[in-house]
Amino acid sequence: MYQDIQEILISEEEIEAKAAELGKAIAIDYKDLNPLCVCVLKGAVPFMADLIRKCEIPLEVDFMAVSSYGNSTKSSGVVRIIKDLEASVENRHVLIIEDIIDSGLTLSYLIDLLKGRKAASVKVVTMLNKPARRTVDLKPDYCGFDIPDAFVVGYGLDYAEKYRNLPYIGVLKEEVYCS
Ligand code: PRP
Ligand code: MN
Ligand code: MG
Repeated sequence: MYQDIQEILISEEEIEAKAAELGKAIAIDYKDLNPLCVCVLKGAVPFMADLIRKCEIPLEVDFMAVSSYGNSTKSSGVVRIIKDLEASVENRHVLIIEDIIDSGLTLSYLIDLLKGRKAASVKVVTMLNKPARRTVDLKPDYCGFDIPDAFVVGYGLDYAEKYRNLPYIGVLKEEVYCS
């Protein structure tokens, strides 16, 4: 697995420090709001786990899994809910946790959905942001790193469901996905 990585883009130490920084900022902003933190499966799992342990305020967590119907439909922003939230978001301050924002379509769909369910507020925290790939106007409220348009894996991010368990964010060797 490690031999498939061309270079480490963001180290384990840098990730840890950034998760702590974001967790503390969120703790200040959401003090007394008891936010509902929504982890978008599967990629956001490691970040969620790191972030909430650095966010020392009362909060709740829930999970959502979504899937696009395929590339053609994804570009139209159609997203299918695989697993919905257990909690009601009505009058709740919702913080969506993502590993990466790419086109922005997954998140713009989720934000509209949760606002439609009458959340008191909906904000987004992401560890990674690829602004070059954006097709909808969407900016994260909290962001770890802006990254170039490279094929990155690790820390939750997969290629064909692999590499999610890497503790760092690395660039995948081209031969791995071009063969
Ligand atoms: C990836 C990533 C984000 C989304 C970003 O998830 O984890 O959720 O794509 O892409 P977008 O901004 O273009 O919508 P994916 O759909 O691969 O599912 P996964 O988290 O289970 O890997
Ligand atoms: Mn995802
Ligand atoms: Mg994926």
